[in-house]
Amino acid sequence: MSLLEVNKLNIGFQGGDGLMNVVTDLSFDIEEGKAVALVGESGCGKSVTALSIMRLLICPPAHMEAESILFEGKDIQQIPERHMWKLRGNDISMIFQEPMTSLNPVTTIGKQLTETIRQHTGCSKKEALAKAEDMLREVGIPEPKQRLREYPHQMSGGMRQRVMIAMALSCDPKLLIADEPTTALDVTIQDQILELIADACRRRKMALLLITHNMGIVAEAADEVMVMYAGQIVEKASVQEIFDTPMHPYTNGMLRAIPGTAHTGEEFYVIRGRVPSPLFFSKACRFAPRCDHACERCHKEAPQLQDIGGGHYIRCWNPIKGGNANE
Ligand SMILES: Nc1ncnc2c1ncn2[C@@H]1O[C@H](COP(=O)(O)OP(=O)(O)OP(=O)(O)O)[C@@H](O)[C@H]1O
Ligand code: SF4
Ligand SMILES: [Mg+2]
Repeated sequence: MSLLEVNKLNIGFQGGDGLMNVVTDLSFDIEEGKAVALVGESGCGKSVTALSIMRLLICPPAHMEAESILFEGKDIQQIPERHMWKLRGNDISMIFQEPMTSLNPVTTIGKQLTETIRQHTGCSKKEALAKAEDMLREVGIPEPKQRLREYPHQMSGGMRQRVMIAMALSCDPKLLIADEPTTALDVTIQDQILELIADACRRRKMALLLITHNMGIVAEAADEVMVMYAGQIVEKASVQEIFDTPMHPYTNGMLRAIPGTAHTGEEFYVIRGRVPSPLFFSKACRFAPRCDHACERCHKEAPQLQDIGGGHYIRCWNPIKGGNANE
């Protein structure tokens, strides 16, 4: 049984012209202890997908429906809110892009951490304090005792993100959702934070859904990659398959766009055009206006996600043969 199984998730927003569909028929699953990356350009629907799994999407204006969203076999759509509150934190934790939006600026790090720990574990103040100190140590924060007395603004962005990771890990969740956890940080810190998240997940045998627009960071952190474009998964495979034989022109373009990689041998590649607004999603292939491989059929008929074997799925009429990222 998968830890998380999302079946036919559709998300839309109510606007003046009716319901604007932003995520279409999304299905995927995450096995216990596995790290899965959800990759795609800005606006493709990554965050709303994560929020809908946590049931944090505000409906309305959002409208969400799914055949099922099973966590350990239970459909989270059917779970009463008071139980959902327990599930968030105890079983599923989330780290957001900007730690300042999740940390309370007028409360010390220690108070915020111990309150979270106590709410979810019911332990004593003293035990929570000891655990908070251990957690800061685990995420590489020096002098944790002293740091617990500090306020968020007294810390650097990297340190604050470490605190958020400590908070997310403190209740030993089974699934960690990290939504662009490194984009607000200095490039030199990004790798350290990513490594910290990936290591913590491996050590604790915790599953990870890593959301990012940066294909460059998934190789070290994920077992499996889902490439999302305009609200749909266009390619899904093991990290090795995706990097060795990317078959969808969009995946291919994303890999070529990783600056200075040995993979491409090129300086820099930019996928022409932009992600369309959901108001203008094509009824045929949504990537067709930007695709160098498009044929007549691509502009007329929508390709479906096909299982091509070995856990590799692709949504394309003209997959790139041999998956050569330099094509
Ligand atoms: N509250 C909202 N009201 C209307 N539209 C929204 C709302 N939130 C998100 N959207 C739209 O839903 C689509 C998906 O948004 P989402 O935030 O999931 O993108 P994303 O892939 O996470 O992008 P980014 O990489 O920039 O974080 C976008 O077109 C966005 O404009
Ligand atoms: S279906 Fe056609 S347009 Fe769409 S990605 Fe494949 S080749 Fe390109
Ligand atoms: Mg987002």
